[in-house]
Amino acid sequence: MTDHVTSADLNGVRTIRFNRPDKKNALTRAMYTAAAEALESGDTDSAVRVFVLGGQDGMFTAGNDLIDFMEAPPHIGAAETPPVERFMRALLNATKPVIAEVDGVAVGIGTTLLMHCDLAYASDRALFKTPFVDLALAPEYASSLLFPARLGRSPASELLLLGDVWGAARARETGLVSDVFSADQLPGEVRKRAEALAQKSPAALRQAKALMSSEPDSISDRINREGGIFAEMLQSPEFAEAATAFMERRKPDFSKFG
Ligand code: COA
Repeated sequence: MTDHVTSADLNGVRTIRFNRPDKKNALTRAMYTAAAEALESGDTDSAVRVFVLGGQDGMFTAGNDLIDFMEAPPHIGAAETPPVERFMRALLNATKPVIAEVDGVAVGIGTTLLMHCDLAYASDRALFKTPFVDLALAPEYASSLLFPARLGRSPASELLLLGDVWGAARARETGLVSDVFSADQLPGEVRKRAEALAQKSPAALRQAKALMSSEPDSISDRINREGGIFAEMLQSPEFAEAATAFMERRKPDFSKFG
């Protein structure tokens, strides 16, 4: 256990925060393990509907702890899954929405992980940097695939080749984050959106997220796949609640669904 990661549940939202301010929230093996456990347990807990991932004190994370990196270099495919991989796979495999709240610096994996979140919001003092080439390292966790695909090849090269530091405006313009708020407003704006998601049909959110994060297929195959899921969901009690609520001119109540 470590107190360098906190996890708190409120109104269906599990907020996981990196909390190692003296080291700028640099991520150790113990921190990855704690964050992975919070994601894994929340994903199977029907009281948890949404995750928020953030930092503390105007710092998201300085990335992987460089001393940890040298002491125990992680290796994908190792007999025992390294904590960093366990955390990143927990993020990738989360079936519930994950919102990143980036206030301050997001270095290395702090920026990479945004590709595996559903939504990302930043403060106007956020800074994004992936200095892998500068550290004589390579991109990680599919950032070499996802950055060019989502941000565009040239902006991705600013991050992954030049090691440029992006401010919040550049991050928003490229789509790395959805929106930018003042540091004071950011937690409230994120909570508003997280609680809105927590009120929605869990099954519908799960399906929409799974479809958006699945491997690309042809348009026709995707239509067929969506159509099958859609037809099944028309028979679900959650759809019955949504439709009945519409007829009765009230808000749907999905609290009893997991
Ligand atoms: N790993 C280990 N320790 C780290 C760290 C990291 N990734 N990032 C910061 N720290 C430690 C510093 O060594 C320092 O420790 P000390 O007080 O015992 O000397 C402390 O955190 C404060 O860091 P400092 O550099 O003084 O803070 P700053 O506000 O001037 O700069 C950063 C903050 C994040 C911009 C800067 O620390 C930085 O660039 N860190 C390295 C980022 C990095 O390369 N990450 C790995 C990517 S793969």
